[in-house]
Amino acid sequence: MDKIIVFDTTLRDGEQAAGGSLNIAEKVEVARQLERLGVDVIEAGFPVSSPGDFESVRAIAHEVKNATICALARANPADIDSAWEAIKEAESPRLHVFISASDIHMMHQLKKSHEQVLELAVGMVERARGYTENVEFSPMDASRANTEYIYRVLEAVIAAGATTVNIPDTVGYAVPAEFGRLIAGIKQSVPNIDSAVISVHCHNDLGLAVANSLEAVRNGARQVECTINGIGERAGNASLEEVAMAVATRADIFGIATSLDTTQIYRTSRLVSELTGFPVQPNKAIVGANAFRHQSGIHQDGVIKMPATYEIIDPQRVGVPSSALVMGKLSGRHAFRERLAELGYGLSDADFDQVFAAFKGLADKKKEVSDRDIESLVAEYKRTTTEHYHLERLQVTCGDRGIPTAAVKLSGPGGKELADAALGTGPVDAVFKAINRLVGVSNTLTEFTVNSITGGIDAIGEVLIRIESAGVSYTGRGADMDIIVASAKAYMNALNRLLSAHNTAENGG
Ligand code: KIV
Ligand code: ZN
Repeated sequence: MDKIIVFDTTLRDGEQAAGGSLNIAEKVEVARQLERLGVDVIEAGFPVSSPGDFESVRAIAHEVKNATICALARANPADIDSAWEAIKEAESPRLHVFISASDIHMMHQLKKSHEQVLELAVGMVERARGYTENVEFSPMDASRANTEYIYRVLEAVIAAGATTVNIPDTVGYAVPAEFGRLIAGIKQSVPNIDSAVISVHCHNDLGLAVANSLEAVRNGARQVECTINGIGERAGNASLEEVAMAVATRADIFGIATSLDTTQIYRTSRLVSELTGFPVQPNKAIVGANAFRHQSGIHQDGVIKMPATYEIIDPQRVGVPSSALVMGKLSGRHAFRERLAELGYGLSDADFDQVFAAFKGLADKKKEVSDRDIESLVAEYKRTTTEHYHLERLQVTCGDRGIPTAAVKLSGPGGKELADAALGTGPVDAVFKAINRLVGVSNTLTEFTVNSITGGIDAIGEVLIRIESAGVSYTGRGADMDIIVASAKAYMNALNRLLSAHNTAENGG
């Protein structure tokens, strides 16, 4: 079967999305999981954009051996040199050069003529080719550009050495039939097109990113750029899991395969959601909590008799755990370890002991511990392993008569114990004020969201917060059955990430 190249840009276009600030270790963790998922190309970042991005691309280039590592660069020498510097040690490096090609972008943003842009595109692809044989070129905003001009640009950059030409629907403006025609036209009209792979990169502003990508595949595209959970700039990018499962489920239409291990999809989706702080909507195709849940009695009846009556994909094919065993306070170490493995976690013995103790603590309070609860316990444990300050104790008084008051005890660097108390307009405000007095880092709270991980009165509450300090946004997450404790943990998590970023910057990272 013919194959499409899966190009994942979660760590570049996905990361670009407001507030999705992952640190270097987290980006490497996502890259390793993408490698397990079997993506062909990982766009690891935009190295010239910040020292942190440069370092994370370099770290990924070192760590990941079974995928091509791509770095983004604008069409200028400094960007290309920096991108190459970051990926040059990769087993299989790729440079991705882009420049705007629509009239509206060239006239109002670049203030350059068609000829100037064409000349830059060719010159910079040649420069990139001086470093590597694997060069991708993107004429940005191609779907709104003059088609004849795009043909000319593509012919010229392929002649200059581009091995992949990527057609971006940068503002998510295209509709499927039109985008398919654009790809077919490129295939027909660019004389040297057979020397390059046609790629597509669709944004989701009209909710059509996946549909446009699939129509492009039907018309000859052989690389699809996408992100896990569809995260990305504005309304996001084409969702990897949706594109992958559409071509796999409808092989009769597409007649094309990917190299993905689709059983890693669910785990990858959970990891990206956990680390970026972008929740997955419950009705999201393939990875949403309801994607394989049947509510209607008629559907339930059908699925019991024969799953294919209402299920077009076997959930296990995308790695959704089967959950045959109910976990609770009678579950032992062995069963717990097995469930962790099923969920895709391989913990060291020491880490396992800690998570198992947390599981037992939860199982004492809750009759049934769900997979989502277990994922939350592991995430909570991982968050606390790299802390500068740790929440030791928290006591809050609140109600409609008194003044909300919080007393907080933290352990700080070198195990030093710190305690203080504060009043607030509400219990969470009082907790944050008390923590601020102890940690003393100025910041502004910009987002505060509470979600319950599972249903029921005994659900674990998960708090997501974002804080801003010196123009940079930091995400924090915390989970606990007590929502005030979860809020305190989320705030500590955001502060610890802020402190780590400051330390890395001070140490020249
Ligand atoms: O959306 C876009 O046009 C991009 C390019 C850099 C490929 O992200
Ligand atoms: Zn994009």
